[in-house]
Amino acid sequence: MKDFYNAFYRAIEHSQAHHLFCERVYGKDLGQHGFADMEQIELLLQVTRLRPGQSTLDLGCGDGRMAEYLSDRSGARFTGLDYILQAIELARQRTAAKAEHLDFAVSDINHLDLPPATFDLILSVDTLYFSEDYAATLAALKTALKPDGQIAIFFSYGREPWVPMDQFPKERLPADQTPLAAALNANGLSFQAWNLTSQDYAQALRRRAALDELKPLFEAENNLFIYENRMGDSQGIRQAIEDGLHARYLYLAQ
Ligand SMILES: C[S@@+](CC[C@H](N)C(=O)[O-])C[C@H]1O[C@@H](n2cnc3c(N)ncnc32)[C@H](O)[C@@H]1O
Repeated sequence: MKDFYNAFYRAIEHSQAHHLFCERVYGKDLGQHGFADMEQIELLLQVTRLRPGQSTLDLGCGDGRMAEYLSDRSGARFTGLDYILQAIELARQRTAAKAEHLDFAVSDINHLDLPPATFDLILSVDTLYFSEDYAATLAALKTALKPDGQIAIFFSYGREPWVPMDQFPKERLPADQTPLAAALNANGLSFQAWNLTSQDYAQALRRRAALDELKPLFEAENNLFIYENRMGDSQGIRQAIEDGLHARYLYLAQ
């Protein structure tokens, strides 16, 4: 997966096809590789009430454009972490003039070394999946939270195409039953969750339409690997939702 993300962040810096894909699918190009579109980002801003001066961590920040957008919108300070060096370097270069509000560092979600009691909000958009131990990762995040801090996580849970239908644990789809909910509970973190499954379905359809249209441009740029990756997500999620085997949530924990 690291090879994919190295190639992905290198390619999207100059890819017009990916720029158009993001504008059509998410409403804005923030270099996204997750599933949080601008409607979901607005929900995040609304429920977290992010304020000027607050200290925020974005775990899995990619090239930092979402952190930069959220900082510009809210006035909050952001630290972005990701394990792709080139993405972090791009983020640093692009935001050098905003260094008071934005800093970025390379870090692996499975080897977090965070300063204690530092952040008002810890955000992670579609990145928890890469943790080998959700409960251990949340324990590390909890230690880094200020006493009244919050953790916001965009998280989908569903059947992957290679898992036989009858082997997927459907009973774990409700927000309070997912593997993430279990890890939050194990850490004594109470939470609310917003169900975004129908938005995820609409997004899968938008992805398909945008990819059909943009395939020649991805091909001309030699970026078909991005097209294929994103088409795979779109088809897998659409099918799983139609089968009633996929859910997406925004969790807000404290
Ligand atoms: C699905 S993308 C989401 C990126 C971004 N948050 C967004 O919403 O577009 C997952 C991100 O997690 C990062 N990532 C994957 N494995 C990681 C790990 N072990 N440690 C830190 N970051 C990781 C990837 O480089 C990528 O930026």
